[in-house]
Amino acid sequence: MSSILSISLFIQLLLLFGVQDAGATPPSHNLIHETCRKCARNDPNLSYDFCVTSLQAAPDSRCANLTQLGVISLKLTRQNLTATKKYIRLLLKNKTSHQYDDPYIRSCLKDCFRLYSDAILSLKEAIADYKSTNYADANIKVSSVLDASTTCEDGFKEKQGVSSPLTKRNGDTFHLSALALSIINMHAPPPIRIH
Ligand SMILES: *[C@@H]1O[C@H](CO)[C@@H](O)[C@H](O)[C@H]1NC(C)=O
Ligand SMILES: *[C@@H]1O[C@H](CO)[C@@H](O)[C@H](O)[C@H]1NC(C)=O
Ligand SMILES: *[C@@H]1O[C@H](CO)[C@@H](O)[C@H](O)[C@H]1NC(C)=O
Ligand SMILES: *[C@@H]1O[C@H](CO)[C@@H](O)[C@H](O)[C@H]1NC(C)=O
Repeated sequence: MSSILSISLFIQLLLLFGVQDAGATPPSHNLIHETCRKCARNDPNLSYDFCVTSLQAAPDSRCANLTQLGVISLKLTRQNLTATKKYIRLLLKNKTSHQYDDPYIRSCLKDCFRLYSDAILSLKEAIADYKSTNYADANIKVSSVLDASTTCEDGFKEKQGVSSPLTKRNGDTFHLSALALSIINMHAPPPIRIH
């Protein structure tokens, strides 16, 4: 009698811990980690930690499936683009900082402002393409966003002694669009890029 009781208690404990264990790591949480592992493996430009940190910062990422994680990565990229465009506008308007009086830096900032304005439009289209499962077009548009971040950053490198005030932001754009591309490509093979 007591041995049956202890067996049933044992089973109950087993069930309790089994359920608790599953509850501690919801499937979506695992999906973020699993997706980021794949992204980091497939793209040397993408770090696992950046991927996890970025995706987990989105409020609805915990219960998202892969398709939804793609939308989330695109929206994170769009937020970043919009914030950077605003920031560039502030830098161009900043009368108290003589750093931005330099005509060379101003022309670089203006180029970046145009690049980011175009990138926001491309990203908006990419989200629509992605949602309608047109992954090839989404890939091309997000690739153009990634290229915009390096074009902006490279502009500042053409003159010696000039340092880019946008390095961190261009880096974020670069990595977020690489992340979005990586998730897009999990749905379909990437198209051949023609330069
Ligand atoms: C990594 O970034 C470099 C520099 O922009 C780029 O040329 C290269 O194609 C990227 N690699 C992948 C796998 O996307
Ligand atoms: C841009 O993306 C980076 C990396 O995910 C993040 O740390 C930063 O807070 C984002 N900025 C905005 C304004 O969304
Ligand atoms: C993800 O969830 C959405 C909405 O519930 C659904 O339409 C879509 O097919 C799902 N995608 C995958 C890969 O399960
Ligand atoms: C303008 O530049 C100054 C000096 O670099 C800086 O302290 C200030 O925060 C800047 N203002 C804006 C709105 O960026």
